[in-house]
Amino acid sequence: MSRLLEVRDLKVDFYTPNGTVRAVDGVSYTLDEREIVGLVGESGCGKSASQLAVMQLTESPGVIAGGEVLFEGHDLLRFAKNGPEMRAVRGGKIAMIFQEPMTSLNPVLTVGAQLEEAVRTHCPLSKSEAQERAVELLRLVGTPSPETRVKDYPHQFSGGMCQRVMIAMGLSCSPRVLIADEPTTALDVTTQAQVLRLMRNLVEELGTALVVVTHNLGVVARYVHRIYVMYAGRVVESGTTKDIFAHPRHPYTLGLLKSVPRLDERHGSRLIPIEGLPPNLIDMPGTCAFLPRCPNAIDRCREESWPELESVGGGHDVRCYVNLGEAR
Ligand SMILES: Nc1ncnc2c1ncn2[C@@H]1O[C@H](COP(=O)(O)OP(=O)(O)OP(=O)(O)O)[C@@H](O)[C@H]1O
Ligand SMILES: [Mg+2]
Repeated sequence: MSRLLEVRDLKVDFYTPNGTVRAVDGVSYTLDEREIVGLVGESGCGKSASQLAVMQLTESPGVIAGGEVLFEGHDLLRFAKNGPEMRAVRGGKIAMIFQEPMTSLNPVLTVGAQLEEAVRTHCPLSKSEAQERAVELLRLVGTPSPETRVKDYPHQFSGGMCQRVMIAMGLSCSPRVLIADEPTTALDVTTQAQVLRLMRNLVEELGTALVVVTHNLGVVARYVHRIYVMYAGRVVESGTTKDIFAHPRHPYTLGLLKSVPRLDERHGSRLIPIEGLPPNLIDMPGTCAFLPRCPNAIDRCREESWPELESVGGGHDVRCYVNLGEAR
């Protein structure tokens, strides 16, 4: 598989009245052709902020404070934010599905009209061709009777169906990369799994690569090839889905595995929440940001700065003194 997207050392700051928040602090990841990558972590860890920055969609009070986004031989962050190159990338080559499908769709336009508009923004199609494509796209994402449903308004669709419409919009011009910011509260676990299954099938069918952004490590397990676990703006562990589940190394990843509902588990298995809260990003400790919540901390964790992400072999990286120590 060849490399499609490479994000290097991405940094995003938010200027707030209380101080500067570094929401994304040196995030790097790669995406190969036809690959599905999961970006996982608790609310506020910088998942959306990092993905918006990839598309140069960061809005005030946020700024992209550093890094590179390499795609088709260019660093996208060097393109003017609203220049022709960036506009060609957005929606055309890299599409993003936003977190809130209900608010991303316009309530006063039919679903069909919105799909047609998305199609015509990037593809030179006539009105009737765009109408046909809208029906085709609705069918592609599994909408029953797409010919009649195109005439419906978003409120006539369920949350899960709206999410499918958003996927259809994202796919309207056959992007090379689709970034899906998972709705977490809006959809139940079963619907999320259905949407993920649909996306996986589309990846196989259309050859699009996919970045899935989610809280729920359990839900992505079956659908993603590799996982990046984020905590307080940084990647703390990354590896193949198999390695992350079979040999989680970071205590935060272990905590996530114990605290999320999994589709393949029998009913009644106990979920153990991770105690404590993520740190205040305005007032970050110099030490590991997970230290106050970590059950495995050793003296070194209290004395030294947050460790670097280091390889434990086989494409598995961890940012932790304890587990790296054990691996050596
Ligand atoms: N508009 C904003 N103004 C100020 N700070 C912001 C803003 N948007 C995000 N942040 C900061 O950036 C951090 C990361 O936000 P982000 O939206 O990327 O989180 P997330 O991981 O996507 O969370 P969620 O799972 O809830 O969507 C937040 O914790 C917050 O401190
Ligand atoms: Mg988010």
